[in-house]
Amino acid sequence: MSEKPVIVVTRQLPDAGMQLLAEAADVETRVWPHDLPPSRTDLIELLQGATAAITLVTDPVDGPLLDVLPGLKAVANCAVGYDNIDVPAATERGVLITNTPGVLTETTADFAFALVISAARRIVEAADYVREGHWKTWSPNLFLGQDLHDATIGIVGFGRIGQEVAKRATGFSMRILTIDRGKRPDVPFAVEYTDLDSLLRESDFVCLTVALNDDTRGMIGARELGLMKPTAMLINAARGPVVQTDALVEALINRTIAAAALDVTDPEPLPVDHPLVSMPNCTIAPHIASATVATRSKMATMAVNNALAAVRGERPVNLVNTEAWKS
Ligand code: DGY
Repeated sequence: MSEKPVIVVTRQLPDAGMQLLAEAADVETRVWPHDLPPSRTDLIELLQGATAAITLVTDPVDGPLLDVLPGLKAVANCAVGYDNIDVPAATERGVLITNTPGVLTETTADFAFALVISAARRIVEAADYVREGHWKTWSPNLFLGQDLHDATIGIVGFGRIGQEVAKRATGFSMRILTIDRGKRPDVPFAVEYTDLDSLLRESDFVCLTVALNDDTRGMIGARELGLMKPTAMLINAARGPVVQTDALVEALINRTIAAAALDVTDPEPLPVDHPLVSMPNCTIAPHIASATVATRSKMATMAVNNALAAVRGERPVNLVNTEAWKS
């Protein structure tokens, strides 16, 4: 076995991250070489002898997995979200968990707002129409959408990303609603605080930017969709399981709501024959809100730096479970 600590990377990262690992002469790096994520069995095998793992949202990490990896000191998730990791189980076992906050906030908000615009103005549907050769003439009734300006956007999850979505909405003169959770961040624009039901009733666009946890799992189901206006649109830039998929299918078929635009789904990926995939009023992106060259490079660099710090016995900058740190 190697004398050096081993950092396992569960997929090839953007070059900036791989370069940083290559330059770290005091560690050995092992990389999962395939495009698709390792299965659980593969992951266990890959992680044998690892001191730290750099994981992605596609890698479930739980207590039983950690139990067979006694040498593992840290898991550096290359994402701001870490719902793929059982953090209490890691803390119990003294395994450090890190994430990549901050560097993807604006990029993710840009994409979430792009989904709002895309749903409102039916951009994907219209582009498909042209690509499929249906465009014959200008028509007064062709692809009528909804106005964004002066409309109401309800942002569920007013953390870093939610606040950046709101900032973009101010550029469109939108009324901004969010949920009153007792914390009211100091933002330089007008925000109205309300409860979830009122937000759903009043919004023309409901944009989800909450973290996935026990409180938010399944929070948008048939009842909540039923409160929305029939002209309203649901945008999910959070995590798929925040929305109950079957309820969304029903709501889109029955026109309980007008449209959805999703960067995330449950399950992920959605099978190509899933009803949501072929619905004209549902746009689905393959979980790419943070996917720009610059941002993915920053995320990779941050995750690698967190893993390097952990294997060197230093406190990682982006430690999630601070209680697991023993100086
Ligand atoms: C995150 O960072 O949590 C994204 O969903 C993956 O980039």
